[in-house]
Amino acid sequence: MDPKEKAVLDNMNTRFSCRRYKQIPVEKEKLDAVIDVAKHAASGHNLQAWHFTVITTEEGKKELLDAVGPEPEQFKKLAPKGATWPFPNDFFGAPVVIMISYDPNAPWPEAGVFLAAGNMMNAANALGLGTCCLTVFSNDVFRTEETAAKKAEFIPEGYELYVSMVLGYPESYPAKRPERKDDVVSWL
Ligand SMILES: Cc1cc2nc3c(=O)[nH]c(=O)nc-3n(C[C@H](O)[C@H](O)[C@H](O)COP(=O)(O)O)c2cc1C
Repeated sequence: MDPKEKAVLDNMNTRFSCRRYKQIPVEKEKLDAVIDVAKHAASGHNLQAWHFTVITTEEGKKELLDAVGPEPEQFKKLAPKGATWPFPNDFFGAPVVIMISYDPNAPWPEAGVFLAAGNMMNAANALGLGTCCLTVFSNDVFRTEETAAKKAEFIPEGYELYVSMVLGYPESYPAKRPERKDDVVSWL
Protein backbone atom coordinates (compact mmCIF):
# COMPACT_ATOMS: atom_id res chain seq x y z
CA MET A 1 0.00 0.00 0.00
CA ASP A 2 1.12 3.52 -0.76
CA PRO A 3 2.58 5.07 2.46
CA LYS A 4 0.28 8.09 2.20
CA GLU A 5 -2.78 5.87 1.89
CA LYS A 6 -1.56 3.76 4.80
CA ALA A 7 -1.05 6.89 6.92
CA VAL A 8 -4.70 7.88 6.40
CA LEU A 9 -5.92 4.43 7.43
CA ASP A 10 -3.50 4.31 10.39
CA ASN A 11 -4.91 7.61 11.59
CA MET A 12 -8.42 6.19 11.63
CA ASN A 13 -7.30 2.96 13.27
CA THR A 14 -5.46 4.76 16.07
CA ARG A 15 -8.31 7.09 17.06
CA PHE A 16 -9.35 6.31 20.61
CA SER A 17 -11.75 7.61 23.25
CA CYS A 18 -9.62 9.88 25.40
CA ARG A 19 -10.72 10.19 29.03
CA ARG A 20 -7.99 12.43 30.46
CA TYR A 21 -6.75 15.70 28.95
CA LYS A 22 -3.87 18.12 29.42
CA GLN A 23 -4.85 21.42 30.97
CA ILE A 24 -3.83 23.43 27.90
CA PRO A 25 -6.05 25.17 25.35
CA VAL A 26 -6.53 23.96 21.80
CA GLU A 27 -5.45 26.37 19.07
CA LYS A 28 -8.38 28.05 17.28
CA GLU A 29 -6.81 27.02 13.95
CA LYS A 30 -7.09 23.36 14.94
CA LEU A 31 -10.69 23.76 16.14
CA ASP A 32 -11.59 25.43 12.84
CA ALA A 33 -9.95 22.56 10.95
CA VAL A 34 -11.92 19.95 12.93
CA ILE A 35 -15.21 21.77 12.29
CA ASP A 36 -14.37 22.23 8.63
CA VAL A 37 -13.91 18.47 8.23
CA ALA A 38 -17.27 17.93 9.98
CA LYS A 39 -18.93 20.18 7.42
CA HIS A 40 -17.57 17.99 4.63
CA ALA A 41 -19.43 14.90 5.88
CA ALA A 42 -22.20 13.37 3.80
CA SER A 43 -25.77 14.24 4.75
CA GLY A 44 -29.23 13.24 3.53
CA HIS A 45 -30.04 15.31 0.42
CA ASN A 46 -26.98 17.38 1.31
CA LEU A 47 -29.17 19.34 3.71
CA GLN A 48 -26.30 19.63 6.22
CA ALA A 49 -28.92 19.80 8.95
CA TRP A 50 -26.34 19.99 11.72
CA HIS A 51 -25.11 22.61 14.13
CA PHE A 52 -21.95 22.65 16.23
CA THR A 53 -21.91 24.50 19.54
CA VAL A 54 -18.28 24.86 20.54
CA ILE A 55 -17.65 25.56 24.25
CA THR A 56 -14.11 26.63 25.07
CA THR A 57 -14.61 28.50 28.34
CA GLU A 58 -14.93 27.28 31.91
CA GLU A 59 -18.08 29.43 32.27
CA GLY A 60 -19.65 27.76 29.21
CA LYS A 61 -18.90 24.29 30.57
CA LYS A 62 -20.28 25.24 33.98
CA GLU A 63 -23.47 26.54 32.35
CA LEU A 64 -23.88 23.22 30.55
CA LEU A 65 -23.36 21.26 33.77
CA ASP A 66 -25.85 23.51 35.56
CA ALA A 67 -28.36 22.92 32.77
CA VAL A 68 -27.94 19.17 33.03
CA GLY A 69 -27.88 18.83 36.82
CA PRO A 70 -25.43 17.04 39.13
CA GLU A 71 -26.01 13.45 38.05
CA PRO A 72 -28.99 13.34 35.74
CA GLU A 73 -31.36 10.42 35.58
CA GLN A 74 -30.50 9.77 31.94
CA PHE A 75 -26.89 9.15 32.89
CA LYS A 76 -27.95 6.19 35.03
CA LYS A 77 -30.51 5.15 32.44
CA LEU A 78 -28.19 5.25 29.41
CA ALA A 79 -25.06 3.75 30.95
CA PRO A 80 -24.69 0.10 29.92
CA LYS A 81 -25.38 -2.47 32.62
CA GLY A 82 -22.33 -2.81 34.85
CA ALA A 83 -20.69 0.37 33.52
CA THR A 84 -18.40 1.95 36.04
CA TRP A 85 -18.02 5.31 34.32
CA PRO A 86 -18.20 8.15 36.79
CA PHE A 87 -20.51 11.00 35.80
CA PRO A 88 -18.05 13.13 33.76
CA ASN A 89 -18.75 16.33 35.66
CA ASP A 90 -15.35 17.74 34.70
CA PHE A 91 -15.70 16.63 31.07
CA PHE A 92 -12.66 14.39 31.72
CA GLY A 93 -10.67 17.61 32.10
CA ALA A 94 -11.12 18.45 28.40
CA PRO A 95 -10.71 22.12 27.48
CA VAL A 96 -13.32 21.93 24.70
CA VAL A 97 -16.85 20.52 24.53
CA ILE A 98 -18.63 20.39 21.17
CA MET A 99 -22.38 19.86 21.19
CA ILE A 100 -23.70 18.48 17.91
CA SER A 101 -27.36 19.14 17.21
CA TYR A 102 -29.62 18.49 14.24
CA ASP A 103 -32.82 19.60 12.58
CA PRO A 104 -35.28 16.74 13.25
CA ASN A 105 -37.27 17.65 10.13
CA ALA A 106 -34.39 16.84 7.78
CA PRO A 107 -34.19 13.35 6.23
CA TRP A 108 -32.05 10.94 8.30
CA PRO A 109 -30.53 13.83 10.27
CA GLU A 110 -29.00 11.61 12.96
CA ALA A 111 -26.98 9.71 10.37
CA GLY A 112 -25.53 12.96 9.03
CA VAL A 113 -24.53 14.27 12.43
CA PHE A 114 -22.79 11.05 13.28
CA LEU A 115 -20.87 11.04 10.03
CA ALA A 116 -19.83 14.58 10.93
CA ALA A 117 -18.85 13.42 14.42
CA GLY A 118 -16.75 10.59 12.97
CA ASN A 119 -14.99 13.02 10.66
CA MET A 120 -14.25 15.27 13.64
CA MET A 121 -12.81 12.44 15.71
CA ASN A 122 -10.52 11.30 12.92
CA ALA A 123 -9.44 14.85 12.08
CA ALA A 124 -8.72 15.55 15.74
CA ASN A 125 -6.57 12.42 15.95
CA ALA A 126 -4.61 13.54 12.90
CA LEU A 127 -3.94 16.85 14.65
CA GLY A 128 -2.66 15.18 17.84
CA LEU A 129 -5.94 15.79 19.68
CA GLY A 130 -8.08 13.32 21.61
CA THR A 131 -11.88 13.11 21.63
CA CYS A 132 -14.62 11.22 23.43
CA CYS A 133 -18.38 11.21 22.88
CA LEU A 134 -20.40 11.66 26.05
CA THR A 135 -23.76 9.88 26.12
CA VAL A 136 -24.94 11.85 29.12
CA PHE A 137 -24.76 15.13 27.20
CA SER A 138 -26.94 13.84 24.38
CA ASN A 139 -30.52 14.00 23.21
CA ASP A 140 -32.26 13.41 26.54
CA VAL A 141 -30.55 16.30 28.27
CA PHE A 142 -33.03 19.06 27.54
CA ARG A 143 -36.15 16.96 27.76
CA THR A 144 -36.90 17.32 31.46
CA GLU A 145 -39.02 20.21 32.64
CA GLU A 146 -36.15 21.85 34.53
CA THR A 147 -33.62 21.57 31.71
CA ALA A 148 -35.88 22.35 28.71
CA ALA A 149 -35.79 26.05 29.55
CA LYS A 150 -31.99 26.10 29.21
CA LYS A 151 -31.93 24.51 25.76
CA ALA A 152 -32.03 27.79 23.83
CA GLU A 153 -28.73 28.85 25.44
CA PHE A 154 -26.94 26.06 23.62
CA ILE A 155 -28.96 24.80 20.64
CA PRO A 156 -30.55 26.73 17.73
CA GLU A 157 -34.33 26.93 17.78
CA GLY A 158 -36.00 23.85 16.31
CA TYR A 159 -32.84 21.75 16.66
CA GLU A 160 -32.28 18.72 18.92
CA LEU A 161 -29.04 17.84 20.64
CA TYR A 162 -27.66 14.57 19.32
CA VAL A 163 -24.42 14.09 21.20
CA SER A 164 -21.61 16.05 22.80
CA MET A 165 -17.94 15.41 22.31
CA VAL A 166 -15.01 16.47 24.45
CA LEU A 167 -11.76 17.39 22.78
CA GLY A 168 -8.24 18.37 23.81
CA TYR A 169 -4.63 17.22 24.02
CA PRO A 170 -4.51 13.73 25.57
CA GLU A 171 -3.00 13.49 29.04
CA SER A 172 -3.01 9.72 28.90
CA TYR A 173 -3.48 6.99 26.35
CA PRO A 174 -5.21 3.64 26.99
CA ALA A 175 -2.71 0.87 27.73
CA LYS A 176 -4.73 -1.41 25.48
CA ARG A 177 -7.25 -0.52 22.78
CA PRO A 178 -10.70 -2.09 23.25
CA GLU A 179 -10.99 -5.35 21.31
CA ARG A 180 -12.73 -5.28 17.92
CA LYS A 181 -15.17 -8.04 16.97
CA ASP A 182 -14.15 -10.17 14.01
CA ASP A 183 -17.52 -11.74 13.27
CA VAL A 184 -19.26 -8.64 12.01
CA VAL A 185 -18.73 -9.11 8.26
CA SER A 186 -20.49 -11.39 5.76
CA TRP A 187 -19.19 -11.80 2.22
CA LEU A 188 -21.61 -12.91 -0.48
C1 LIG B 1 -22.54 7.52 20.82
C2 LIG B 1 -21.39 7.28 21.75
C3 LIG B 1 -21.53 7.60 23.09
C4 LIG B 1 -20.47 7.40 23.98
N1 LIG B 1 -20.63 7.77 25.29
C5 LIG B 1 -19.60 7.63 26.15
C6 LIG B 1 -19.71 8.10 27.49
O1 LIG B 1 -20.73 8.64 27.91
N2 LIG B 1 -18.64 7.96 28.32
C7 LIG B 1 -17.48 7.38 27.88
O2 LIG B 1 -16.55 7.30 28.68
N3 LIG B 1 -17.33 6.93 26.60
C8 LIG B 1 -18.36 7.06 25.74
N4 LIG B 1 -18.23 6.63 24.41
C9 LIG B 1 -16.98 6.02 23.97
C10 LIG B 1 -17.11 4.50 23.80
O3 LIG B 1 -17.15 3.89 25.07
C11 LIG B 1 -15.90 4.03 22.96
O4 LIG B 1 -16.01 4.56 21.65
C12 LIG B 1 -15.79 2.50 22.86
O5 LIG B 1 -15.57 1.93 24.12
C13 LIG B 1 -14.65 2.07 21.92
O6 LIG B 1 -13.43 2.62 22.36
P1 LIG B 1 -12.57 3.58 21.44
O7 LIG B 1 -13.42 4.76 21.06
O8 LIG B 1 -11.40 3.98 22.29
O9 LIG B 1 -12.16 2.83 20.21
C14 LIG B 1 -19.26 6.83 23.51
C15 LIG B 1 -19.12 6.54 22.15
C16 LIG B 1 -20.16 6.77 21.27
C17 LIG B 1 -19.97 6.49 19.81
